[in-house]
Amino acid sequence: MKEFSFSTRIFFGEGALDRLQKVKGKNVLIVSDSFMAQSGVVDKVASHLTDCQVTVFSEVVPEPPLTVVAAGVKCLQNCEATVMIAVGGGSCIDAAKAIRTLSTQIHGGKAEVMECFAIPTTSGTGSEVTEYAVITDTEKGVKIPLASRAMRPPTAILDPSLVVSSPPSVTANSGMDALTHALEAYISTGANDFSDAMAEKAVSLLCKWLPIAYDDGENLLAREKVHNASCLAGLAFNSAGLGLCHGMAHTLGARLHVPHGLANAIILPYIIRYNADLDTGGRTSKFTETAAKLQRIAKLLYLPSTTPVVGVSQLIHIIDDMNSEMNIPKTFKALGMDVKDIRTEVDELAEIAMADTTVTTNPREVKKADVKKLLLKVCGL
Ligand SMILES: NC(=O)c1ccc[n+]([C@@H]2O[C@H](COP(=O)([O-])OP(=O)(O)OC[C@H]3O[C@@H](n4cnc5c(N)ncnc54)[C@H](O)[C@@H]3O)[C@@H](O)[C@H]2O)c1
Ligand SMILES: [Fe+2]
Repeated sequence: MKEFSFSTRIFFGEGALDRLQKVKGKNVLIVSDSFMAQSGVVDKVASHLTDCQVTVFSEVVPEPPLTVVAAGVKCLQNCEATVMIAVGGGSCIDAAKAIRTLSTQIHGGKAEVMECFAIPTTSGTGSEVTEYAVITDTEKGVKIPLASRAMRPPTAILDPSLVVSSPPSVTANSGMDALTHALEAYISTGANDFSDAMAEKAVSLLCKWLPIAYDDGENLLAREKVHNASCLAGLAFNSAGLGLCHGMAHTLGARLHVPHGLANAIILPYIIRYNADLDTGGRTSKFTETAAKLQRIAKLLYLPSTTPVVGVSQLIHIIDDMNSEMNIPKTFKALGMDVKDIRTEVDELAEIAMADTTVTTNPREVKKADVKKLLLKVCGL
């Protein structure tokens, strides 16, 4: 038996922020970052509230560390807010989810009754609808994925006007994170008819609209389509799970200090090739179910796809093209990262990647020797 459920109410499209007008006379904590606070986005959000006492916690930083979550818990305790609003990219929303969950544990369930809104300002993580939060243990240099159904935000507000200020690099990285969510969910061992529907729509929206949003950040229609696609991809992977690309992105992202979406963007083409077993697939009778499924995605994108091998190759080609159009290189070395020590650390890194919970739903059985080879390849070694 499988389950597909989502408990988040999603308000989307231009003007979606108006939903906040229903929050009246409450004690509100806004969890955000310094850029959002300084650029006026936090004020814009707060201006939609009616007669509320507002506290702003703007200490979140990208790939949020445990220390930020601890400071947020303290802030929540001090201000005794009953409503929490997370405003920002995945880092702000994840931090808010962790703060809310930890406060709940500390206060014996009191925080569970809090109203909570997730308002993404990047289009990528889908964190506004997922039960996951990724926190970084900076001392150990590893990412800690937290998972709990209680972490699903009750309300998500997808207002494309909030994403317009995203610089091209953030648009590219977060957009490729969303594409990775959709594609990994689509071929994961947990994939199902419901998650497939979300993933297919997300992939077709992203392949059409992400390059447009990258080229013209003020194109509100493109922003809206990419924003919706990111949320659909979140719903897909929340049900189906992810795969080895995320396992390696968490590992190398923490080790090399590369933003999450950018790490996924670089690794994704290699993992698609690996999971589809492209070296043998299609030319013999041994082509995998994964390759056949990816061929379906290629057809959906109107790519040549006479055989699974042709379909998968074309899909990889499209991802490579999107990456290069958005200035994302093919390896971490080409990105300018110092990868010289990776060769000596590769054994340990492969173990960390394989232990990442996202890898449990990877469609191909993951062998350590293969992960080591892949880690070296993506690093350009
Ligand atoms: N919870 C999940 O299910 C999930 C899934 C994937 C990734 N993640 C996590 O999410 C984090 C990445 O989130 P992200 O990709 O959204 O980036 P981010 O939240 O780290 O933001 C990146 C940068 O973009 C800036 N920014 C955000 N919105 C902006 C806007 N509208 N205009 C200008 N600048 C803006 C931020 O201030 C920040 O400096 C990572 O920690 C990753 O591990 C979580
Ligand atoms: Fe991700």
